[in-house]
Amino acid sequence: MALDLGGTNLRVCHVTLLGNGEHTIRQQKYVVSEELKTGPMRNLCDFIADCVDSFLTENGTIDSDSTIQLGYTFSFPVLQTSINRGVLKQWTKGFNCSGAVGKDVTILLQDSFRRKNINVNIAAIVNDTVGTLMAYAYKHPDTTMGVIMGTGFNASYYEDMNKVKKWTGKTDQEMVINMECGAFDCERRVLPLTVYDNKMDRESINVHQQLYEKMVAGMYLGEITRNALIELIDRQLLFNGESSKDLNKIWSFETAYMSSIEVDETEDLCDTAHILESVLSIPSTTLADRQIVKKVCNAVGVRAARLASCHIAGVLKHTGKVGQDCIIAIDGSLFEFYPKFEKNMGTALAAILGEQARSKVKFDLARDGSGLGAAIIAMIAAKN
Ligand code: BGC
Repeated sequence: MALDLGGTNLRVCHVTLLGNGEHTIRQQKYVVSEELKTGPMRNLCDFIADCVDSFLTENGTIDSDSTIQLGYTFSFPVLQTSINRGVLKQWTKGFNCSGAVGKDVTILLQDSFRRKNINVNIAAIVNDTVGTLMAYAYKHPDTTMGVIMGTGFNASYYEDMNKVKKWTGKTDQEMVINMECGAFDCERRVLPLTVYDNKMDRESINVHQQLYEKMVAGMYLGEITRNALIELIDRQLLFNGESSKDLNKIWSFETAYMSSIEVDETEDLCDTAHILESVLSIPSTTLADRQIVKKVCNAVGVRAARLASCHIAGVLKHTGKVGQDCIIAIDGSLFEFYPKFEKNMGTALAAILGEQARSKVKFDLARDGSGLGAAIIAMIAAKN
């Protein structure tokens, strides 16, 4: 089985591997309330255990006498000391449960299973990027990287073990590295941060952390756009200088609005007018206003795609893979749904590596891969 915590929903999956890259999966999504995301960790773990329990009850085909091996996709930065041990370093993406940072999150969840007499053993803790890489590699063994571009942003790749300084064991193989690249440049030396980024960062619950992630991931793009729009309003350049209560509210401009605005090809941008006037209650907008809003969304969206490609280019250079055939397995709502995200990433990659090298890189959507990947890892771990 696999669990997936860290995106919009909690997912519980039961996976059957059929061989030859084929599998079947049964899965159920559960909504994690804001209260659970920011309350005591014990409540969150009890909730997860209850979801697993009700999944097992509803899908009663699983033999209740034998222990079920589970892969726990926990998509936050952890210090992983073995296949099923991981200490949470910090929360990201709007989670902020008390009593978890500095603790081993597999032990906390295993305790909940034990208290509730649920016969499940956490065989592995897995980052979603690693799960995505493993799931895609099950079908396409030459997959090079696993990337998430959704609520959050992160990537994993294979590294020669002799280059992993922390590793003291045998070094003749490769190891999958969860890069936690969203935490890149917290010193704010390299990233071209704007005043709109800084304002969003200051108001987030993890100030000065995950700055790269905040410029790329779906959770933040809407708020960056909102900050830019508010400044244009204050400078009397938009909506005749008038905002609305809704638009003034922090986090009110969802990244999904940006997607709808970017695909709005109507002559008078009436879908954009609907979002601004009906959803966000701006008293009235002109066509020029709507064109400006569309331009701002585009600037923020293109920048995210370009910055994401910088990371992929960096990994390809580091691993000496520039010019070789590479498959990048990518999951996440931004990559799947944001208009032209993939195309913009490709253009950026060509600008960095050249057209020839870019043509060798394939971005593939690996939808919901992390559940399958975590189950594969749990199965191998349990067998070993
Ligand atoms: C987390 C990563 C995760 C990424 C995508 C980030 O906020 O730190 O562990 O892979 O989000 O879900």
